[in-house]
Amino acid sequence: MLQRARNHLVAWLIERHPRVFLRWKKIGKHRLGEEAGFLRAHAHLVREFSGLQRFEERYNLWALARSVARLPGAFAEVGVYRGGSARILCEAKDAAPLHLFDTFGGMPDVDPTADGAFRPGDFADCSEAQVRAFLAGFADVHFHPGIFPASAAAAEPYPPFKFVHLDVDLRRSTLDALAWFYPRLVRGGLLVSHDYGDVTVPGVKQAFDEFFADKPETVIPLWFSQAVVTKL
Ligand SMILES: C[S@@+](CC[C@H](N)C(=O)[O-])C[C@H]1O[C@@H](n2cnc3c(N)ncnc32)[C@H](O)[C@@H]1O
Repeated sequence: MLQRARNHLVAWLIERHPRVFLRWKKIGKHRLGEEAGFLRAHAHLVREFSGLQRFEERYNLWALARSVARLPGAFAEVGVYRGGSARILCEAKDAAPLHLFDTFGGMPDVDPTADGAFRPGDFADCSEAQVRAFLAGFADVHFHPGIFPASAAAAEPYPPFKFVHLDVDLRRSTLDALAWFYPRLVRGGLLVSHDYGDVTVPGVKQAFDEFFADKPETVIPLWFSQAVVTKL
């Protein structure tokens, strides 16, 4: 109850007095006050639920997604859960299509030797209907429920992609997503993943390092846990 009231107050501050919010965050010199789309998405996430991405990670996602604005192609996310990061992508994507892939019913099988403490069925407290409602105001958003990459087959062919966000936590899911998206990314397109630098999510770094070992691209770690790859 108290937390809810606090979240509403912070969201109000972000929307009405962004400069005060930024000073309160001790980043008063940052140009973030000019990024209306990011502030709108962040305020919404603060108001609705805490979400799984840190403030800095939300901003990275926003800035990286905005950086591909002039490239042709679609956006995609694998690992949507309740739509927290997808909301940032919706605000950032302009008129590009966004394809969202998740079971919308919890984690598939996990590999206990690679996936830390994750268990099948984790993140089951969501539904496709809930996320559709959460993102209802945004155009050209497409839902692909089921275990990826099998879930992608029904909607083939896809346009080339310019921005792919992965937040799947698991080694197998990350490897499958990299194998599926890599040949579908336009040159200069970005592959961004959550959790690369998080020691409690070891499968993501394993999958990225293994997949890119024989590729020309470099995996660049970001603060706090993300990594980004530019398709050459
Ligand atoms: C950490 S949550 C995503 C959080 C979300 N990005 C956010 O900002 O709140 C991880 C999600 O990955 C999904 N996931 C993992 N592997 C998957 C796969 N192979 N196919 C579909 N969904 C998968 C799970 O169902 C879960 O919803």
